[in-house]
Amino acid sequence: MCGIVGYKGFKKASKILLDSVRRLEYRGYDSVGMAVLGESGIIVKKGAGNVDKVNNELFFEELEGSIGVAHTRWATTGEVNNVNSHPHLSNNNKICVVHNGIVENYQEIKKFLENKGFCFISQTDTEVIPNYVQYFIDNGESFEDAVKKTLRIIKGSFAVVIMSEDDGIIIGARRGSPLVLGIGFGEFFLASDVPAFSECTDKVVYLDDDEFAVLGDDYHIYDFNTGRENFKKINIINWSFEQAKKGEYEHFMLKEINEQGNTIKKAAEQSIELIREATDLINGACGVFLVGCGTSYHACVSASYIFSKIAKKHVNVLLASEFRNYEHFLSSNTLVIAVSQSGETADVIDAVSFAKKHGCRTLSIVNVMGSTLTRLCSLNIMMNAGPEICVLSTKSYTSQLAVLTLLAYSAVDKFKQAKKLLVDVAGKVNDLINNINDDLKLLAGKLKRVNDLFLIGRDLAYPSALEGALKIKEVSYIHAEGFAGAELKHGTMALIQDGVPVIALNTRGTNDLLVNNIMEVKARGAFVIGIDSRNNELYDFFIKVPGADIADPVLMIIPIQLLAYYLALAKNLNPDQPRNLAKSVTVK
Ligand code: AGP
Ligand code: GLU
Repeated sequence: MCGIVGYKGFKKASKILLDSVRRLEYRGYDSVGMAVLGESGIIVKKGAGNVDKVNNELFFEELEGSIGVAHTRWATTGEVNNVNSHPHLSNNNKICVVHNGIVENYQEIKKFLENKGFCFISQTDTEVIPNYVQYFIDNGESFEDAVKKTLRIIKGSFAVVIMSEDDGIIIGARRGSPLVLGIGFGEFFLASDVPAFSECTDKVVYLDDDEFAVLGDDYHIYDFNTGRENFKKINIINWSFEQAKKGEYEHFMLKEINEQGNTIKKAAEQSIELIREATDLINGACGVFLVGCGTSYHACVSASYIFSKIAKKHVNVLLASEFRNYEHFLSSNTLVIAVSQSGETADVIDAVSFAKKHGCRTLSIVNVMGSTLTRLCSLNIMMNAGPEICVLSTKSYTSQLAVLTLLAYSAVDKFKQAKKLLVDVAGKVNDLINNINDDLKLLAGKLKRVNDLFLIGRDLAYPSALEGALKIKEVSYIHAEGFAGAELKHGTMALIQDGVPVIALNTRGTNDLLVNNIMEVKARGAFVIGIDSRNNELYDFFIKVPGADIADPVLMIIPIQLLAYYLALAKNLNPDQPRNLAKSVTVK
């Protein structure tokens, strides 16, 4: 969700910034803009639309100078149009801001500044920031102090990069939204995410909440509340820039689906000591909550079945955004396990912060090293899936399932057994993809014009039905819903009629009961697609998936990921950037 970038160095800033915003496109956005400080001052170019469209109209690389900021906007306040696009300037055109997040008290600040004679040209909350900085500078503060004072006043979560024409420096600051600092030779980068600059440097400083980095000839990081300088560790990122490229694949989505044979194995390669520490927390807790959003939430639902079956343990599963409602069940004996690919999802961060306020212990299962979540939780298990660029979570989902399976088994001292199971399953993934690819292209052709689609599964396949529906919806825009097999007859059966597609996720364990549900939809004319280890005469279309017992959810989802991908292609949609969606959802 939104990408912000800043560059201060000796090279042509507009080229670097343009490359960087392209690499942040995956986060989801609706407008793009850039500002560079050149000989005649700060020049801004911006507009609604994607990077290519806006660049073809405005030619970002015409901007000359070696210091600048850029932005991909995901509108929260004010419609999507050229004026509301970032960067935003102060009234005297000397302070320039790109912003991710929401200034919750912007109306109040706007009134205050209007009373002081400031004018506003956009509908955004962001525009109060450069003007507040100008207000403080007009009143005698230095740029740094003016930024500090402004940041203390604005409410809500944000990440900002602010450039000053008079000082020739940029400042990056964050509270609640992501911002990382890249350190090169004589040059600095600020960005929402490491891939923005990973081609230029592998040295990264993760800013914490309420910190700001001042980039001049050198860099300094301060706490903007206390003004104290913080000396921070420089991290070396452990994945290559190549991993964040499409390579031979047409889309990141297909690349990431195909990586799963490898990423599941990597997810299972956890140190036994770390897993033991985590399972001690699980076994010692009085109340375990698994929280996540979207796909990560579906991994949590799956895990609740796996914990129940393998560890004979009840775990509570909650959407992270609903977690606060369980306040009365939280204590220092509660363990909250937060599952998130990005580690930046605002609802997840909120749930974990809330849990910490109640003294709960916290464990994360996360993919992005150095993300906010990893710095909030006392113990972190990395999924090791490498960068996931497509907005849709694919490989991160199966990696989450792998780590959660490992934990459930390890909670009853079966670490090795789990590892073996996961390595076996990982080995089946590549064959599976190769075997079913053509069938799924064919199926996508048959389904591309349908309006509604239903998925049913029981037991372990039920969460897979939920996740499968999400995959299809978000990338093909076909309305899809996942159900526990028995639930259709409690209402939704009214929608089943001639030709309505129903995907049945059938496992060996649930076969007999699910067949009843398949017959029920079949009797009403449904076109039944069986995803199963054995064919059945009830299926109008059959996708063979090997049985994997407890690891069934890992294999079951793969045909649906591919189907979603081919549906998007069949409908001429870009699978990597579905409309209205953002990779990392950094607003609540
Ligand atoms: C699904 O394809 C989406 N990417 C989305 O549901 C995602 O899982 C959700 O926004 C949570 O993201 P996280 O795992 O980064 O916290
Ligand atoms: N709230 C700001 C806006 O609506 C920033 C949105 C974003 O994070 O992209 O312009």
